[in-house]
Amino acid sequence: MKSVIFDLDGVIVSTDDLHFMAWKSMADRNGIPFDRQINNLLRGVSRAESLEIILRKSEKSYSEQQKQELMQYKNDIYIKLLDNLKHSDILPGVMELINRLKKAGVKIAIGSSSKNTRKILQKIGLETVFDAIADGTEIQHSKPDPEVFLVAARKLETKPEDCVVVEDAVAGIEAAKAGNMTAIAVGDAASSSLADYRVNTMMQIAEVLNLE
Ligand code: G6P
Ligand code: MG
Repeated sequence: MKSVIFDLDGVIVSTDDLHFMAWKSMADRNGIPFDRQINNLLRGVSRAESLEIILRKSEKSYSEQQKQELMQYKNDIYIKLLDNLKHSDILPGVMELINRLKKAGVKIAIGSSSKNTRKILQKIGLETVFDAIADGTEIQHSKPDPEVFLVAARKLETKPEDCVVVEDAVAGIEAAKAGNMTAIAVGDAASSSLADYRVNTMMQIAEVLNLE
């Protein structure tokens, strides 16, 4: 293992509730049924694909133009909610793990489908901590396609087989394995049979990686 690639939403910081509130507002406004269960299906999935999943419950069909408007409406709300994010919202154990990885000379990156990655990292004060950032603005195919992780590996100058991915989404574990990387599952991703390791805390990742 030479490099660790972290997913952002749900691994470094929890944005599930913010995505939920923003999508819920869009759905209510358009009379589309939307709940937490559907929100859970959107983890790791791009904004456009998330909308498609939500619209499966709608009786109406929407034009491309209307879909763009629905995504814009959701993202405007989401961005306002992101404004309240701060350093203390970083999930427990993350800073300690990052510090230990850096001390051990392991390179670290972010691999996220989110087009708001840079804004989120800036709000939580981590925009300069990672050796590389690959996000939703740079890819054609979102997870479970491995593209975002392969972009991160390329930027880190690390071979995919020497990369370890930390993910909370089943789609993210699939993406890591499709990219020939080692996959560590946290939270919801533990249900994926493809995960190489499953952990409950960030410090368990230090154990898996055999850090000093
Ligand atoms: C992450 C989240 C998803 C979200 C996606 C796109 O992968 O887990 O829930 O849909 O990013 O986010 P964006 O900020 O580009 O709308
Ligand atoms: Mg995630």
